[in-house]
Amino acid sequence: PIPLIIDTDPGADDVIAILLALSARDRLDVKALTTVAGNVQLRYTARNARMVREWANRPDVPVYAGCSRPMLRTPIYAAEVHGAEGVTGVKIFEPKQPLAKGSAVQYLIETLLAAPPKSITIVTLGPQTNLAMALIENPEIRQGIKEIIMMGGAHFNGGNITPSAEFNVFADPHAADVIFKSGLPLTVIPLDVTHKMLTSPERIDRLRKIGNNAGKIAADILDAYVEHDIKEYGLPGGPVHDATTIGYLLKPEMFKGRMVNVEVDTREGPTFGATIVDYYHTTKKPENARWITEGDTQGFFDLLTVQLAKLP
Ligand code: BDR
Ligand code: CA
Repeated sequence: PIPLIIDTDPGADDVIAILLALSARDRLDVKALTTVAGNVQLRYTARNARMVREWANRPDVPVYAGCSRPMLRTPIYAAEVHGAEGVTGVKIFEPKQPLAKGSAVQYLIETLLAAPPKSITIVTLGPQTNLAMALIENPEIRQGIKEIIMMGGAHFNGGNITPSAEFNVFADPHAADVIFKSGLPLTVIPLDVTHKMLTSPERIDRLRKIGNNAGKIAADILDAYVEHDIKEYGLPGGPVHDATTIGYLLKPEMFKGRMVNVEVDTREGPTFGATIVDYYHTTKKPENARWITEGDTQGFFDLLTVQLAKLP
């Protein structure tokens, strides 16, 4: 199985992503969930990650809390999309199992230093503050990283939080800048693809019809969460952004993209937090990311349905 650390800010779609990852025990060795402030404050994202661990009955997966705010910018949240405490559509509870001791940043540093060379895949599903801070504190952690797969950014699609910026990058552009400049192998799942891979009432219904708790939770969350993007953005269904990254890990053949140069706009102004993607190689700047633009939507929802059936 692929050794994996999931850095996340649950977050409705983060929950679906984590459930999907934890369902694939034979393929993904989830070492830890590291949490960060993003969709809501850190105290909620860390608590929500612990709720998901309990839903999936995976006491073996530690949950760490990391950075409580972005590197430089004023904190922003997305409670209007995900609910005041970050998970809409389900009953919130206080999970029994506590957080792991120590900060997520420290965990990343220690784990990546001790890991065999190029062995660990890191998936980032929120603002990239934790990983950026870890790379700044100890650049030698690079040695343990096989690749980074991030949900974030937008090019062809335009932004979802400003006309030009996607939420995760906008919420900490300086952190994203560190990641894009790191030279580490990087795959980006931007809005360009996630806004094409939408739920439908039928797709959500299939999750509910699995008949287990995980399917019901996923369906309840999606029913509530998709409303925002359908109403506010006029999309025909809801994107399950973060879960798409795990779909990519499990079945990369369902996706298409190309190597490009990406820069993050960290200047104040209307394009603050935008990802500038040199899709046609006009600048001849070195490629630093694989930018995904196409995905097999039905294949993804089929996979999600099959996988969630493996959970309690
Ligand atoms: C991203 O922003 C968050 O609100 C979602 O959880 C996802 O990670 C989509 O832009
Ligand atoms: Ca997220």
